[in-house]
Amino acid sequence: MAISLRTQVGIVGAGPAGLVLSHLLYLQGVDSVVLENRSREYAEQRVRAGVLEQGTVDLLTEMGVGERMKAEGLVHYGIELRFGGRGHRIDFQDLTGRKGITIYAQHEVLKDLNNARIASGGQVLFEVENVSVHDFDGDKPRIRYQKNGTPYELTCDFIAACDGFHGICRPSVPPGILTVYEREYPFGWLGILADAPPSSEELIYTYHDRGFALLSMRSPHISRLYLQCKPDANIDLWSDDKIWQELQIRLASDGWTLTEGQITQKGITSMRSFVVEPMQYGRLFLAGDSAHIVPPTGAKGLNLAVADVQILARALKHFYSTGSRNLLDTYSEVCLRRVWKVQRFSWWMTSMLHRFPDENPFDQRRQLAELDYVTTSRAAAKTLAENYVGLPLE
Ligand code: FAD
Ligand code: PHB
Repeated sequence: MAISLRTQVGIVGAGPAGLVLSHLLYLQGVDSVVLENRSREYAEQRVRAGVLEQGTVDLLTEMGVGERMKAEGLVHYGIELRFGGRGHRIDFQDLTGRKGITIYAQHEVLKDLNNARIASGGQVLFEVENVSVHDFDGDKPRIRYQKNGTPYELTCDFIAACDGFHGICRPSVPPGILTVYEREYPFGWLGILADAPPSSEELIYTYHDRGFALLSMRSPHISRLYLQCKPDANIDLWSDDKIWQELQIRLASDGWTLTEGQITQKGITSMRSFVVEPMQYGRLFLAGDSAHIVPPTGAKGLNLAVADVQILARALKHFYSTGSRNLLDTYSEVCLRRVWKVQRFSWWMTSMLHRFPDENPFDQRRQLAELDYVTTSRAAAKTLAENYVGLPLE
């Protein structure tokens, strides 16, 4: 017999979406339990996103989890677009009215959120097994799972599916309900972390004949760099020397040098655009990567996950304080308006900056014209800047 437990909101997944949701609900007086199949250690060292929009920074600060981010995060007010060996700055402050971005690693955000949840008596259960979701088309959804071999059944009012792209919640929705919109890209990103001081104060997005390259960072001593590679590239065939050599070629610019250092981590990420509609079925709400994936060129994945759960927390607060389901019923519609704009931006950045295997010389000239336009027209630069720093929440 399973041990019966009860909470108001059962949350599957302790990524950014699940933890931000759980803490927002706590601050609103709503009870939740977070179920995570990985260990806390694994989540807190896994290298993923690094760019926080102003809205994400503001939210984390309001939630009381922004102290370390404020001390250690690097605030940037622009990015560089580099092509033809020359750099062009997009000045966010000037173009968006003083907004910026903060470089602070996703796993550091997770550490801060885990600490806050635990300090406030929150229930985040790591290393749970065989999580499954049931009866969410009725009034009493249930989540079954095992912990240390013991079976549990958690009854809740609502289930938040924050279990990422490969989670179990989305596939548990009955067939015929969800429509998938998807595009795969014919390339991947090879990403490294290196013990090297960043060679630029701001991020550099580079278009080069040999493919895209990105210079980012994690601290004044650690660089994060990416190279466009084949989607099925084998990381073992990319020696450290070969990676630095390729970065040197693609990022080269007169009077500028790329500082090298010891590579401490490397991996390959595939690139995909993916959306399911609707993001809700009965009392199951999909949030973050469980509902959508963007290619990383716009630095949006984490920020979009946080925006979803902000909308969901607001709707749940409304339900618990008034009994009205109005905001819950429009959750998917409100999220998807933002999701599609962010999809468009991420697709556009990706198309402008990468080499495509099926392109012809016309396409290449068009890409260069686009880069030229974005870096010389204030109107075009402004659309990039306002999307990059983050669109306002509805
Ligand atoms: P996730 O962070 O995926 O969290 C989901 C959680 O659910 C995980 O902790 C997972 O272990 C857990 N889970 C899954 N299945 C179950 C289950 N059955 N039971 C219980 N728990 C479960 N975005 C950027 O903007 N820039 C980047 O550079 C970037 N790099 C990335 C690199 C990689 C390798 C990946 C995978 C993603 C990257 N992203 C990047 C995307 C960004 O990290 C995600 O958009 C963000 O993590 C989404 O947060 P989430 O909470 O929705 O999902
Ligand atoms: C990162 O620092 O990991 C990063 C920065 C910008 C992106 C993607 C990833 O567009």
